Amino acid sequence: MASGRPLVFAHRGGADALPEHTLAAYLRALDEGADGVECDVRLTRDGHLVCVHDRRLNRTSNGTGLVSGKTLAELEELDFASWHPAAAAAADEWPEEHARLLTLERLLDALREHGRPVRVLIETKHPSRYGAEVERRLVAMLRRYGLAEPKPDDPIQVTVMSFAALALRRVRKLAPAVPTVYLLEIVPPGVGRGRLPFGARIAGPGIALLRSRPQLVSALRAAGHQTYVWTVNEEADLDLVVAQRPDGIISDRPKFVLERLEKV
Ligand code: G3P
Ligand code: CA
Repeated sequence: MASGRPLVFAHRGGADALPEHTLAAYLRALDEGADGVECDVRLTRDGHLVCVHDRRLNRTSNGTGLVSGKTLAELEELDFASWHPAAAAAADEWPEEHARLLTLERLLDALREHGRPVRVLIETKHPSRYGAEVERRLVAMLRRYGLAEPKPDDPIQVTVMSFAALALRRVRKLAPAVPTVYLLEIVPPGVGRGRLPFGARIAGPGIALLRSRPQLVSALRAAGHQTYVWTVNEEADLDLVVAQRPDGIISDRPKFVLERLEKV
C-alpha cells in the first residue's frame, strides 16, 4: 500500500456487500481492512441512539413508519437484513443478532471487543427535528465510553459529522475535543474561502459536488482543513477523487477502494 493514502471508511458499515448498519456489515468492513466506519444515528421514541439512515423504517426493515415513533423494544422485533439481496446467502454465516437493529452502544461494544484500531464517523441525523437531544445523548454516551476526550492510544477514535452547522455547534459546546466534519452538498460562501463553522476540522463534500468542484479539496487543504469525500463507489469517481489527494474516502465498497488504492 502506498504510504500517505487516504483513510478508507465503510459507509453505513459497508452498504454494498451486506445490509447497511448491520453488525455483520461493520465486522466484515473491519476484516476487509477499512480504517474506519461511518454510522448514521437517530433517536427512538424512548431516547435510544440507533444506527439507521432513513427517517422511515420501510426501506431497510420489515417495519413501517418513523424510527422516531417507535421504542427500542419495538425496533428490536424487526428484521433489518432480509430486504438486502445478499442477506439470504449470508444468513447462515451470521448469528441472528447480526440481522437485527444495531444500537450505537452495541456497535461501540463490538468495536471494543474486536480490539483493532478503528475510526468511527458518527453522523447525527436531523438536529432540527430532535432538538439538541441527539447530540446530548451522543456526547453522554461518548463520555461513558471514554471517547469524548480522545486519547491517542485508544483504538477507537470518534469523529462526529453533520450537514447541519447547528449540530456541529452543539457538539463543540458539549465535547470540544471531539473532531467534527461539516458535510457538504453545496459550497456555502465561507467554506469556498476555506472557513468551516464552529471549529470543524474536516470538510465532507459529496462526490456529486466534487465532480463539478474537484479543486475544492486543494482549496480546503490550503486553508488547513482535511477533506473526507462521500460516497465514492465507482471507478471513475474514485480516480477523480484520488487525484485530489483527500484525507478520507467514504464508500459502500471499502474493499474495492482499498484494492484500487494499492495500485495507485
Ligand atoms: O458520509 C456522509 C454521508 O453518509 C452523507 O449521506 O445520506 O448517506 O447519510 P447519507
Ligand atoms: Ca451518513
